Amino acid sequence: MLTGKCIVIGITGGIAAYKVPDLVSRLVKAGADVHVVMTGAATKFITPLTLQTISRNPVTCGMFEIPDKWDVKHISLADKADLLAVVPATANIIGKVSAGIADDLLSAVIMATKAPVLFVPAMNVHMYENPILQDNVRKLEGYGYRFVEPDRGRLACGYEGKGRLPGIDVIFDDITGILKKTGDLAGKTFLITAGPTREYLDPVRFLTNGSTGKMGYAIAGAAHSRGARVILVSGPVNIPAPKGVEHIPVMSAREMFAAVKEHYQEADIVVKAAAVADYSPKETSPVKMKKGPGDLEVVFERTPDILQYLGENKDKQVLVGFAAETDNLVENAARKIKSKNLDLIVANDITQPGAGFGTDTNIVKLIYRDGRIEQLDKMAKEEVAHRILDRLIAMF
Ligand code: CTP
Repeated sequence: MLTGKCIVIGITGGIAAYKVPDLVSRLVKAGADVHVVMTGAATKFITPLTLQTISRNPVTCGMFEIPDKWDVKHISLADKADLLAVVPATANIIGKVSAGIADDLLSAVIMATKAPVLFVPAMNVHMYENPILQDNVRKLEGYGYRFVEPDRGRLACGYEGKGRLPGIDVIFDDITGILKKTGDLAGKTFLITAGPTREYLDPVRFLTNGSTGKMGYAIAGAAHSRGARVILVSGPVNIPAPKGVEHIPVMSAREMFAAVKEHYQEADIVVKAAAVADYSPKETSPVKMKKGPGDLEVVFERTPDILQYLGENKDKQVLVGFAAETDNLVENAARKIKSKNLDLIVANDITQPGAGFGTDTNIVKLIYRDGRIEQLDKMAKEEVAHRILDRLIAMF
């Protein structure tokens, strides 16, 4: 969900600092590259070693630490951040930023970054209600800084009131929500097909293929995490749809065709990762078929070629096809790009180990309309998904 995202977490000196490793762990598990900056006061509540172990990155605490190699830390962190979150944010850090003070590493990174900054205040209720703090919050909001409201409840100092750090789930959702809105695919609509289709012979028997939907689902998740609206039309698979995508389950090639046609006009980009059956039994028995003494002959008829239809009816859409081949990969893919009027085709030789159906990795060639071919190394399907999206952005 957060693969490719760099998140800087600033920790300041409040007791809620002890909850931050949980947040960092969630972000790392979601694929983010997390860098932690701690103020001196924060290190009194929790150790840098804890955060370093969980974030899997060096933790920086001081402006004047001597790095192993040349690096102007406050600028390099500020530049590489896709988002900076200050958790917990004390009255002190909010006051300093509001006054334009940058006298330690964290306040300097906040000052230098162009990335969205999210403050998650946690403090005593009277400190939170203090009009100076409230003025500072309003001033910073006016400059585009974002705040998460603290929760009400019992505070570490013994008081009851507003000032508790919100739940880690809430902070996590706020972070992913901001990244989505500011993502490089914000405002774009993706129509993605994934998985196999099932062509029924009778109520219990069907023709299908080994597609598991992993590649299409990885593209759907990646596009959603980068801010796109995603409509995912999927054949029957055993994996859950990525959170936040509009999931339309279908069974047969004909049902997939109907769903795709219905949403085609809304789409800016169509990615056809589904392995669609080219043939379907001409007759489907409404009751379970009984065996007879001799052979069974079944007549199959062609299913609609969905991508062909999209290519013929294309106006603004960027069309991406997939080609799973066992031989003559490049020739077959190049033929399909022309015949189906595509912009890009993702071709994989399904005979190679680590490529194709059911695996977590893929080895693909990206074949462009102008004949260019780009070979990607063997990599996780999520990473292939992000590479494809990078190339699509370059095409817009
Ligand atoms: N495709 C489709 N509708 C079909 C068949 C395929 O939209 N009825 C799409 C697939 O989703 C994929 C692309 O076409 O993006 C290529 O699929 P593939 O089965 O490899 O190619 P075909 O066009 O069926 O060609 P061939 O049978 O010659 O391999």
